[in-house]
Amino acid sequence: MRVLFIFSGMQNESINILGIETSCDETAAAVVADGKTVKSSIVTSQAKLHEKYGGVVPEIASRAHIENLYPVITEALKSADIAKEDIDAIAVANQPGLAVALVVGVTAAKTLSMAWDKPLIAINHLHAHLQSAMINELENQSGGVNPALQLPAVALIVSGGHTCLYECESPLELNLIGRCIDDAAGEAFDKVATILKLPYPGGPSIENAAKTGNPEAIEFPRSMLGDDSLEFSFSGLKTAVLYYCRGQDMKGQSRIDSMSKQEIADIAASFQKAVIDVLIEKTQRAIEKTKAKTVLLGGGVAANNTLRDALSKMCESYRPAKKLLVAPKAYCTDNAVMVASLAYYKYKAGLFADLTIEPKANG
Ligand code: KG4
Ligand code: ZN
Repeated sequence: MRVLFIFSGMQNESINILGIETSCDETAAAVVADGKTVKSSIVTSQAKLHEKYGGVVPEIASRAHIENLYPVITEALKSADIAKEDIDAIAVANQPGLAVALVVGVTAAKTLSMAWDKPLIAINHLHAHLQSAMINELENQSGGVNPALQLPAVALIVSGGHTCLYECESPLELNLIGRCIDDAAGEAFDKVATILKLPYPGGPSIENAAKTGNPEAIEFPRSMLGDDSLEFSFSGLKTAVLYYCRGQDMKGQSRIDSMSKQEIADIAASFQKAVIDVLIEKTQRAIEKTKAKTVLLGGGVAANNTLRDALSKMCESYRPAKKLLVAPKAYCTDNAVMVASLAYYKYKAGLFADLTIEPKANG
């Protein structure tokens, strides 16, 4: 543990953290001061490389991270107009994610920590998604949590690889209370988009197609897993869409090519509604269970406007209404701002990593 650097600067000087993110198919670096002031944020997406496979291919992702990371970090420092001497710590997402992708960011962060003699901070990627929902609410000057942010909060994190509910007492006190037992919400969006022959990534394509569709057209199943479960399951819903398009016995040809644009829009809208109904119901259960005053929404699927609107309506239906904090769109999908922002709280708490940290696929 290298705790030598804690508060080595003047008390009221900014703490600048370089964040690195390579957990899936975005290579990202950012410089954030005091957990809140974004000095730079560079993200390169590999979507084009994975498009023809309809999903992320780990080996391709890893190679692209190796190519992209050095220029991305260089650009993040340059556009923040900051010298390495003024960076206080290096933060990296080391779990969960694709191990062969995470290892690229982790190796780079360890190397910079050693070469620049800066402390290293390990960040859980899902906790960072949660942080992105709070980023505009956190106190700048004192570094404490804004008193206007009423806690405890329930956080719904919906990404390509995970669907989780957390009880959140502060940026560092997170209690996992629900997770997906099979396909994550984003994964279901991506797979259903493939079934419907819509472009990758599936989430934005389904949202777009759904705009002209009727969400009540097809009654797809909502898997609630019992009356008080906070777990999620979306693979049955994905299979229901597949059966709808190919027939129960899967022997028939996909009807997609002969479907009208309207029919595809109706499937997209009905599928999207089924996912959102489950997310809303489970979040409501989590609110009841934790007596949360605030709801946080983050992760790639949080970019979905219909989900944002439905969650907002649900929060407003309470008396008094629950406060809803949604990640800014730029920080819904993977980015390094959320990594550097959360790292600030670990920095203040002296929670540093050493050079033995490893990437972990689960976390
Ligand atoms: O958080 P993220 O960038 O990566 C992971 O940590 O997995 O999330 C990516 C996921 C993809 O599955 C993508 O289809 C989904 O977020 N997504 C959306 C939307 N934008 C991205 N899903 C629904 N609606 C959107 N507008
Ligand atoms: Zn993510």
